[in-house]
Amino acid sequence: MTVMLETAVKGESVKTSDATAGGRLVVDALKKDYELDGAPVPVVKDVTFTIEPGTFYSLLGPSGCGKTTTLRCVAGLEKSNGGVISLDGMTISTGTVHVSPDKRDIGMVFQNYAIWPHMTVFANAVFPLQVSSTRIPKQEARKRAMEALELVQLDHLAQRPATALSGGQQQRLALARALAHRPRLLLLDEPLSNLDAKLRDTMRNELRSLQRSLGISALYVTHDQSEALSMSDRVAVMNGGRIVQEAAPRELYDQPADRFVADFVGRVNMIPAVVREVDGAADASVEALGTRLTTPVPDGVGAGDEVTLTFRPESLRWHASEVERPNVVAAQVVRVEFLGEMVEYETEVRSGDDVVGRIVGRGAPLNSPREGDRVFLELAPHACRVLTD
Ligand SMILES: Nc1ncnc2c1ncn2[C@@H]1O[C@H](COP(=O)(O)OP(=O)(O)OP(=O)(O)O)[C@@H](O)[C@H]1O
Ligand SMILES: [Mg+2]
Repeated sequence: MTVMLETAVKGESVKTSDATAGGRLVVDALKKDYELDGAPVPVVKDVTFTIEPGTFYSLLGPSGCGKTTTLRCVAGLEKSNGGVISLDGMTISTGTVHVSPDKRDIGMVFQNYAIWPHMTVFANAVFPLQVSSTRIPKQEARKRAMEALELVQLDHLAQRPATALSGGQQQRLALARALAHRPRLLLLDEPLSNLDAKLRDTMRNELRSLQRSLGISALYVTHDQSEALSMSDRVAVMNGGRIVQEAAPRELYDQPADRFVADFVGRVNMIPAVVREVDGAADASVEALGTRLTTPVPDGVGAGDEVTLTFRPESLRWHASEVERPNVVAAQVVRVEFLGEMVEYETEVRSGDDVVGRIVGRGAPLNSPREGDRVFLELAPHACRVLTD
Protein backbone atom coordinates (compact mmCIF):
# COMPACT_ATOMS: atom_id res chain seq x y z
CA MET A 1 0.00 0.00 0.00
CA THR A 2 2.63 2.52 -0.94
CA VAL A 3 1.59 4.48 -4.02
CA MET A 4 -2.09 5.31 -4.73
CA LEU A 5 -3.18 8.02 -2.26
CA GLU A 6 -5.54 10.80 -3.27
CA THR A 7 -6.22 9.33 -6.67
CA ALA A 8 -7.61 6.14 -5.20
CA VAL A 9 -10.58 8.00 -3.86
CA LYS A 10 -11.34 9.39 -7.26
CA GLY A 11 -11.42 5.86 -8.63
CA GLU A 12 -8.50 6.15 -11.01
CA SER A 13 -6.48 3.09 -11.67
CA VAL A 14 -4.20 2.72 -8.72
CA LYS A 15 -2.17 -0.27 -7.69
CA THR A 16 -0.70 -1.19 -4.41
CA SER A 17 2.94 -2.17 -4.48
CA ASP A 18 3.10 -4.61 -1.60
CA ALA A 19 -0.40 -5.69 -2.35
CA THR A 20 -3.15 -5.45 0.20
CA ALA A 21 -4.73 -8.18 -1.88
CA GLY A 22 -8.25 -9.14 -1.01
CA GLY A 23 -8.77 -12.22 1.09
CA ARG A 24 -11.23 -15.04 0.47
CA LEU A 25 -13.68 -15.39 3.34
CA VAL A 26 -15.64 -18.59 3.81
CA VAL A 27 -18.41 -18.72 6.40
CA ASP A 28 -19.89 -22.17 6.72
CA ALA A 29 -22.96 -23.04 8.78
CA LEU A 30 -22.32 -20.24 11.29
CA LYS A 31 -24.43 -20.31 14.44
CA LYS A 32 -24.65 -17.80 17.24
CA ASP A 33 -26.90 -17.84 20.30
CA TYR A 34 -27.26 -15.09 22.87
CA GLU A 35 -28.19 -15.89 26.45
CA LEU A 36 -31.44 -14.33 27.55
CA ASP A 37 -32.67 -15.05 31.09
CA GLY A 38 -30.38 -18.07 31.21
CA ALA A 39 -31.76 -19.59 28.01
CA PRO A 40 -30.01 -19.58 24.63
CA VAL A 41 -31.72 -17.52 21.94
CA PRO A 42 -30.50 -18.34 18.41
CA VAL A 43 -29.90 -15.16 16.39
CA VAL A 44 -27.65 -16.52 13.62
CA LYS A 45 -28.86 -19.85 12.32
CA ASP A 46 -26.83 -21.78 9.79
CA VAL A 47 -25.41 -18.86 7.79
CA THR A 48 -23.21 -19.88 4.86
CA PHE A 49 -21.55 -17.63 2.29
CA THR A 50 -18.25 -17.01 0.49
CA ILE A 51 -16.64 -13.70 -0.39
CA GLU A 52 -14.32 -14.02 -3.36
CA PRO A 53 -11.07 -12.01 -3.26
CA GLY A 54 -11.50 -8.35 -4.11
CA THR A 55 -15.28 -8.43 -4.19
CA PHE A 56 -17.84 -6.33 -2.35
CA TYR A 57 -20.37 -8.47 -0.52
CA SER A 58 -23.41 -7.16 1.36
CA LEU A 59 -25.65 -8.60 4.03
CA LEU A 60 -29.00 -6.91 3.61
CA GLY A 61 -31.95 -7.37 5.92
CA PRO A 62 -34.37 -5.77 8.38
CA SER A 63 -33.47 -4.67 11.89
CA GLY A 64 -32.72 -7.55 14.21
CA CYS A 65 -32.16 -10.20 11.51
CA GLY A 66 -28.61 -10.93 12.69
CA LYS A 67 -26.41 -8.88 10.34
CA THR A 68 -24.25 -7.23 13.00
CA THR A 69 -23.94 -10.47 14.94
CA THR A 70 -22.68 -12.26 11.81
CA LEU A 71 -20.18 -9.46 11.20
CA ARG A 72 -18.98 -9.53 14.80
CA CYS A 73 -18.42 -13.28 14.58
CA VAL A 74 -16.29 -12.74 11.46
CA ALA A 75 -14.35 -9.97 13.23
CA GLY A 76 -13.83 -12.19 16.29
CA LEU A 77 -15.70 -9.84 18.62
CA GLU A 78 -18.18 -12.64 19.34
CA LYS A 79 -17.51 -16.33 19.82
CA SER A 80 -19.72 -18.43 17.59
CA ASN A 81 -21.64 -21.47 18.78
CA GLY A 82 -20.86 -23.50 15.70
CA GLY A 83 -19.84 -23.48 12.08
CA VAL A 84 -16.49 -22.61 10.53
CA ILE A 85 -15.05 -19.26 9.45
CA SER A 86 -11.86 -19.19 7.41
CA LEU A 87 -9.86 -16.45 5.73
CA ASP A 88 -7.61 -17.48 2.84
CA GLY A 89 -7.77 -21.08 3.96
CA MET A 90 -6.85 -20.37 7.59
CA THR A 91 -9.52 -21.35 10.10
CA ILE A 92 -10.21 -18.42 12.41
CA SER A 93 -13.33 -19.65 14.13
CA THR A 94 -15.15 -22.87 14.91
CA GLY A 95 -17.39 -23.76 17.84
CA THR A 96 -14.17 -24.36 19.81
CA VAL A 97 -11.37 -22.46 18.01
CA HIS A 98 -11.34 -18.68 18.36
CA VAL A 99 -8.52 -16.63 16.85
CA SER A 100 -8.46 -13.23 18.56
CA PRO A 101 -9.58 -10.18 16.53
CA ASP A 102 -6.11 -8.63 16.27
CA LYS A 103 -4.74 -11.78 14.64
CA ARG A 104 -7.40 -11.98 11.94
CA ASP A 105 -6.09 -9.47 9.40
CA ILE A 106 -9.51 -7.84 9.26
CA GLY A 107 -10.39 -4.13 9.48
CA MET A 108 -13.71 -2.92 10.79
CA VAL A 109 -15.73 0.28 10.50
CA PHE A 110 -18.66 0.69 12.87
CA GLN A 111 -21.90 2.56 12.40
CA ASN A 112 -20.98 5.18 15.01
CA TYR A 113 -17.34 5.39 13.73
CA ALA A 114 -16.02 4.85 17.28
CA ILE A 115 -13.24 7.37 16.81
CA TRP A 116 -11.42 8.59 19.89
CA PRO A 117 -12.50 12.16 20.60
CA HIS A 118 -9.56 13.12 22.83
CA MET A 119 -6.99 12.32 20.12
CA THR A 120 -5.91 14.05 16.94
CA VAL A 121 -6.82 12.68 13.54
CA PHE A 122 -3.33 11.24 13.14
CA ALA A 123 -3.32 9.67 16.60
CA ASN A 124 -6.61 7.98 15.83
CA ALA A 125 -5.10 6.42 12.73
CA VAL A 126 -1.79 5.37 14.28
CA PHE A 127 -2.96 4.20 17.71
CA PRO A 128 -4.28 0.77 16.69
CA LEU A 129 -0.98 0.04 14.95
CA GLN A 130 1.03 0.94 18.03
CA VAL A 131 -0.93 -1.37 20.29
CA SER A 132 -1.10 -4.09 17.68
CA SER A 133 0.22 -7.50 18.69
CA THR A 134 2.09 -7.62 15.36
CA ARG A 135 4.59 -5.11 16.80
CA ILE A 136 4.98 -2.78 13.87
CA PRO A 137 8.08 -0.56 14.30
CA LYS A 138 7.21 3.02 15.25
CA GLN A 139 8.41 4.62 12.01
CA GLU A 140 6.56 2.06 9.91
CA ALA A 141 3.36 2.56 11.93
CA ARG A 142 3.54 6.32 11.38
CA LYS A 143 4.11 5.82 7.68
CA ARG A 144 1.14 3.46 7.34
CA ALA A 145 -1.16 5.74 9.31
CA MET A 146 -0.22 8.69 7.13
CA GLU A 147 -0.77 6.65 3.97
CA ALA A 148 -4.18 5.59 5.16
CA LEU A 149 -5.08 9.24 5.88
CA GLU A 150 -3.90 10.23 2.42
CA LEU A 151 -6.06 7.48 0.95
CA VAL A 152 -9.17 9.03 2.42
CA GLN A 153 -7.94 12.60 1.80
CA LEU A 154 -7.53 13.56 5.42
CA ASP A 155 -3.75 13.94 5.51
CA HIS A 156 -4.00 17.72 5.53
CA LEU A 157 -6.07 17.53 8.73
CA ALA A 158 -3.77 15.07 10.51
CA GLN A 159 -3.06 17.34 13.47
CA ARG A 160 -6.63 18.45 14.05
CA PRO A 161 -8.55 17.17 17.07
CA ALA A 162 -10.79 14.34 15.85
CA THR A 163 -13.84 16.12 17.23
CA ALA A 164 -13.24 19.04 14.85
CA LEU A 165 -14.20 16.91 11.85
CA SER A 166 -17.51 16.88 9.99
CA GLY A 167 -19.62 13.73 9.93
CA GLY A 168 -18.28 12.69 6.52
CA GLN A 169 -14.69 13.34 7.63
CA GLN A 170 -15.18 11.28 10.79
CA GLN A 171 -16.49 8.51 8.59
CA ARG A 172 -13.35 8.74 6.45
CA LEU A 173 -11.17 8.69 9.55
CA ALA A 174 -12.86 5.49 10.73
CA LEU A 175 -12.15 4.03 7.31
CA ALA A 176 -8.50 5.16 7.40
CA ARG A 177 -8.06 3.55 10.80
CA ALA A 178 -9.46 0.27 9.51
CA LEU A 179 -7.23 0.42 6.43
CA ALA A 180 -4.01 1.36 8.25
CA HIS A 181 -3.60 -2.29 9.22
CA ARG A 182 -3.62 -3.20 5.54
CA PRO A 183 -6.20 -5.89 6.19
CA ARG A 184 -7.28 -8.45 3.63
CA LEU A 185 -10.90 -8.01 4.54
CA LEU A 186 -12.80 -4.87 5.47
CA LEU A 187 -15.98 -5.17 7.54
CA LEU A 188 -18.42 -2.27 7.41
CA ASP A 189 -21.48 -2.12 9.65
CA GLU A 190 -23.98 0.45 8.31
CA PRO A 191 -21.10 2.92 7.97
CA LEU A 192 -23.12 5.57 6.15
CA SER A 193 -26.32 5.62 8.17
CA ASN A 194 -25.36 8.66 10.27
CA LEU A 195 -24.73 10.85 7.22
CA ASP A 196 -27.21 13.07 5.43
CA ALA A 197 -28.62 11.84 2.12
CA LYS A 198 -26.28 13.78 -0.14
CA LEU A 199 -23.11 12.88 1.74
CA ARG A 200 -24.25 9.28 1.90
CA ASP A 201 -24.35 9.17 -1.89
CA THR A 202 -20.89 10.68 -2.19
CA MET A 203 -19.39 8.36 0.43
CA ARG A 204 -21.06 5.39 -1.23
CA ASN A 205 -19.16 6.11 -4.43
CA GLU A 206 -15.91 6.92 -2.65
CA LEU A 207 -16.06 3.77 -0.59
CA ARG A 208 -16.75 1.61 -3.58
CA SER A 209 -13.95 3.06 -5.70
CA LEU A 210 -11.51 2.88 -2.81
CA GLN A 211 -12.37 -0.78 -2.25
CA ARG A 212 -11.93 -1.50 -5.95
CA SER A 213 -8.66 0.32 -6.33
CA LEU A 214 -7.19 -1.37 -3.26
CA GLY A 215 -8.45 -4.75 -4.39
CA ILE A 216 -9.53 -5.44 -0.82
CA SER A 217 -12.48 -7.74 -0.04
CA ALA A 218 -15.42 -6.10 1.73
CA LEU A 219 -18.29 -7.36 3.84
CA TYR A 220 -20.91 -4.64 4.13
CA VAL A 221 -23.94 -4.67 6.39
CA THR A 222 -26.99 -2.55 5.67
CA HIS A 223 -30.76 -2.48 5.85
CA ASP A 224 -30.83 -0.01 2.94
CA GLN A 225 -31.61 -1.89 -0.25
CA SER A 226 -30.50 0.88 -2.60
CA GLU A 227 -27.12 0.95 -0.86
CA ALA A 228 -26.72 -2.82 -1.19
CA LEU A 229 -27.86 -2.89 -4.82
CA SER A 230 -25.67 0.00 -5.94
CA MET A 231 -22.42 -1.01 -4.23
CA SER A 232 -22.25 -4.79 -4.19
CA ASP A 233 -20.99 -7.55 -6.41
CA ARG A 234 -23.12 -10.00 -4.44
CA VAL A 235 -25.94 -9.43 -1.97
CA ALA A 236 -27.24 -11.87 0.63
CA VAL A 237 -30.69 -11.06 1.96
CA MET A 238 -31.11 -12.12 5.59
CA ASN A 239 -34.29 -12.72 7.53
CA GLY A 240 -34.64 -14.19 11.00
CA GLY A 241 -31.00 -15.23 11.32
CA ARG A 242 -30.79 -16.92 7.92
CA ILE A 243 -29.77 -16.02 4.39
CA VAL A 244 -32.90 -16.34 2.29
CA GLN A 245 -31.38 -15.47 -1.09
CA GLU A 246 -27.93 -14.65 -2.43
CA ALA A 247 -27.45 -13.17 -5.87
CA ALA A 248 -25.95 -10.36 -7.93
CA PRO A 249 -27.96 -7.12 -7.42
CA ARG A 250 -29.71 -7.28 -10.79
CA GLU A 251 -30.79 -10.87 -10.33
CA LEU A 252 -32.03 -10.16 -6.83
CA TYR A 253 -34.21 -7.36 -8.13
CA ASP A 254 -35.49 -9.18 -11.20
CA GLN A 255 -35.83 -12.65 -9.73
CA PRO A 256 -36.60 -12.48 -6.03
CA ALA A 257 -36.89 -15.98 -4.63
CA ASP A 258 -39.88 -15.31 -2.40
CA ARG A 259 -42.34 -12.71 -1.18
CA PHE A 260 -40.03 -11.50 1.57
CA VAL A 261 -37.19 -10.68 -0.85
CA ALA A 262 -39.54 -9.22 -3.46
CA ASP A 263 -41.00 -6.90 -0.85
CA PHE A 264 -37.75 -5.99 0.91
CA VAL A 265 -35.73 -5.25 -2.22
CA GLY A 266 -37.50 -2.44 -4.07
CA ARG A 267 -41.24 -1.89 -4.29
CA VAL A 268 -43.51 -4.50 -5.71
CA ASN A 269 -47.19 -5.14 -6.35
CA MET A 270 -48.31 -8.46 -4.87
CA ILE A 271 -51.68 -9.64 -6.07
CA PRO A 272 -53.37 -12.89 -5.00
CA ALA A 273 -53.99 -15.09 -8.06
CA VAL A 274 -55.26 -18.53 -8.99
CA VAL A 275 -53.62 -20.47 -11.82
CA ARG A 276 -56.16 -21.50 -14.46
CA GLU A 277 -54.11 -22.96 -17.29
CA VAL A 278 -50.44 -23.77 -17.79
CA ASP A 279 -49.17 -24.03 -21.32
CA GLY A 280 -45.43 -24.43 -20.69
CA ALA A 281 -43.52 -22.51 -18.01
CA ALA A 282 -43.35 -19.32 -20.06
CA ASP A 283 -47.03 -19.03 -20.66
CA ALA A 284 -49.75 -19.51 -18.10
CA SER A 285 -53.11 -17.97 -17.50
CA VAL A 286 -53.98 -16.81 -14.01
CA GLU A 287 -57.08 -15.24 -12.56
CA ALA A 288 -56.17 -12.00 -10.80
CA LEU A 289 -57.47 -8.41 -10.55
CA GLY A 290 -60.86 -9.75 -11.61
CA THR A 291 -59.71 -10.95 -14.99
CA ARG A 292 -57.49 -13.46 -16.80
CA LEU A 293 -53.84 -12.48 -17.13
CA THR A 294 -50.94 -14.09 -18.99
CA THR A 295 -47.69 -14.62 -17.09
CA PRO A 296 -44.73 -16.96 -16.91
CA VAL A 297 -44.87 -19.37 -13.95
CA PRO A 298 -42.16 -21.35 -12.14
CA ASP A 299 -41.78 -25.08 -12.75
CA GLY A 300 -44.19 -27.28 -10.89
CA VAL A 301 -47.08 -24.81 -10.84
CA GLY A 302 -50.38 -26.26 -12.03
CA ALA A 303 -54.00 -25.31 -12.61
CA GLY A 304 -55.87 -24.58 -9.39
CA ASP A 305 -52.76 -23.41 -7.44
CA GLU A 306 -53.14 -20.28 -5.33
CA VAL A 307 -50.13 -18.06 -6.01
CA THR A 308 -48.98 -14.42 -5.83
CA LEU A 309 -48.66 -12.40 -9.01
CA THR A 310 -45.91 -9.78 -8.67
CA PHE A 311 -44.78 -6.88 -10.83
CA ARG A 312 -42.70 -3.77 -10.16
CA PRO A 313 -44.44 -0.35 -10.19
CA GLU A 314 -42.09 0.95 -12.88
CA SER A 315 -42.97 -1.92 -15.23
CA LEU A 316 -46.62 -0.88 -15.29
CA ARG A 317 -47.91 1.22 -18.24
CA TRP A 318 -51.06 3.25 -18.13
CA HIS A 319 -53.38 4.27 -20.98
CA ALA A 320 -56.16 6.87 -21.00
CA SER A 321 -58.38 4.68 -23.18
CA GLU A 322 -58.76 0.98 -23.75
CA VAL A 323 -56.03 -0.73 -25.81
CA GLU A 324 -56.11 -4.05 -27.63
CA ARG A 325 -53.23 -5.74 -25.86
CA PRO A 326 -52.80 -8.64 -23.47
CA ASN A 327 -53.06 -8.00 -19.72
CA VAL A 328 -54.95 -4.71 -19.67
CA VAL A 329 -57.06 -3.94 -16.60
CA ALA A 330 -59.37 -0.98 -15.96
CA ALA A 331 -58.68 1.02 -12.79
CA GLN A 332 -59.40 4.27 -10.99
CA VAL A 333 -56.55 6.55 -9.92
CA VAL A 334 -56.80 7.31 -6.21
CA ARG A 335 -53.45 9.01 -5.48
CA VAL A 336 -50.73 10.74 -7.48
CA GLU A 337 -47.49 11.73 -5.80
CA PHE A 338 -44.64 13.74 -7.28
CA LEU A 339 -41.32 12.37 -6.00
CA GLY A 340 -38.80 14.46 -7.94
CA GLU A 341 -37.26 12.01 -10.35
CA MET A 342 -40.52 10.09 -10.67
CA VAL A 343 -44.26 10.19 -10.21
CA GLU A 344 -45.99 7.46 -8.26
CA TYR A 345 -49.67 6.75 -8.70
CA GLU A 346 -51.97 4.40 -6.88
CA THR A 347 -55.01 2.89 -8.47
CA GLU A 348 -57.90 0.76 -7.37
CA VAL A 349 -59.07 -2.06 -9.58
CA ARG A 350 -62.71 -3.24 -9.60
CA SER A 351 -61.63 -6.43 -7.82
CA GLY A 352 -60.72 -4.21 -4.85
CA ASP A 353 -56.96 -4.68 -5.29
CA ASP A 354 -54.62 -1.70 -5.13
CA VAL A 355 -52.02 -1.38 -7.86
CA VAL A 356 -49.13 1.08 -7.68
CA GLY A 357 -47.36 2.41 -10.75
CA ARG A 358 -44.31 4.60 -11.21
CA ILE A 359 -43.36 6.81 -14.11
CA VAL A 360 -39.65 7.51 -14.14
CA GLY A 361 -37.77 10.17 -16.07
CA ARG A 362 -37.93 13.77 -17.23
CA GLY A 363 -41.39 13.64 -18.74
CA ALA A 364 -42.92 12.00 -15.69
CA PRO A 365 -45.14 14.89 -14.49
CA LEU A 366 -46.61 15.43 -17.97
CA ASN A 367 -47.18 11.76 -18.68
CA SER A 368 -48.88 10.92 -15.43
CA PRO A 369 -52.57 10.38 -14.80
CA ARG A 370 -54.52 12.60 -12.38
CA GLU A 371 -56.41 11.68 -9.28
CA GLY A 372 -59.90 10.47 -10.15
CA ASP A 373 -58.98 9.46 -13.73
CA ARG A 374 -60.23 6.19 -15.10
CA VAL A 375 -57.23 4.44 -16.66
CA PHE A 376 -56.23 1.16 -18.28
CA LEU A 377 -53.23 -0.56 -16.76
CA GLU A 378 -51.03 -2.75 -18.91
CA LEU A 379 -49.01 -5.47 -17.16
CA ALA A 380 -46.65 -6.78 -19.84
CA PRO A 381 -46.48 -10.57 -19.40
CA HIS A 382 -42.65 -10.55 -19.36
CA ALA A 383 -42.70 -8.10 -16.42
CA CYS A 384 -44.92 -10.41 -14.36
CA ARG A 385 -43.60 -13.02 -11.96
CA VAL A 386 -45.46 -15.63 -10.03
CA LEU A 387 -44.32 -16.56 -6.52
CA THR A 388 -45.57 -19.66 -4.80
CA ASP A 389 -44.54 -19.15 -1.16
N1 LIG B 1 -25.59 -8.88 23.31
C1 LIG B 1 -26.80 -9.35 23.02
N2 LIG B 1 -27.50 -10.09 23.90
C2 LIG B 1 -28.73 -10.59 23.60
N3 LIG B 1 -29.33 -10.42 22.42
C3 LIG B 1 -28.68 -9.69 21.49
C4 LIG B 1 -27.40 -9.12 21.72
N4 LIG B 1 -27.01 -8.46 20.60
C5 LIG B 1 -28.01 -8.60 19.73
N5 LIG B 1 -29.02 -9.34 20.24
C6 LIG B 1 -30.26 -9.73 19.54
O1 LIG B 1 -29.91 -10.51 18.42
C7 LIG B 1 -30.70 -10.21 17.30
C8 LIG B 1 -29.83 -9.84 16.13
O2 LIG B 1 -29.16 -8.63 16.44
P1 LIG B 1 -28.20 -7.90 15.39
O3 LIG B 1 -27.59 -6.75 16.10
O4 LIG B 1 -27.28 -8.89 14.80
O5 LIG B 1 -29.25 -7.41 14.30
P2 LIG B 1 -29.04 -6.50 13.01
O6 LIG B 1 -29.51 -7.29 11.84
O7 LIG B 1 -27.66 -5.98 12.97
O8 LIG B 1 -30.09 -5.32 13.26
P3 LIG B 1 -29.97 -3.71 13.00
O9 LIG B 1 -30.28 -3.50 11.54
O10 LIG B 1 -31.05 -3.15 13.87
O11 LIG B 1 -28.60 -3.26 13.39
C9 LIG B 1 -31.66 -9.12 17.74
O12 LIG B 1 -32.89 -9.70 18.06
C10 LIG B 1 -30.99 -8.54 18.97
O13 LIG B 1 -31.95 -8.05 19.86
MG1 LIG C 1 -26.85 -4.05 13.20
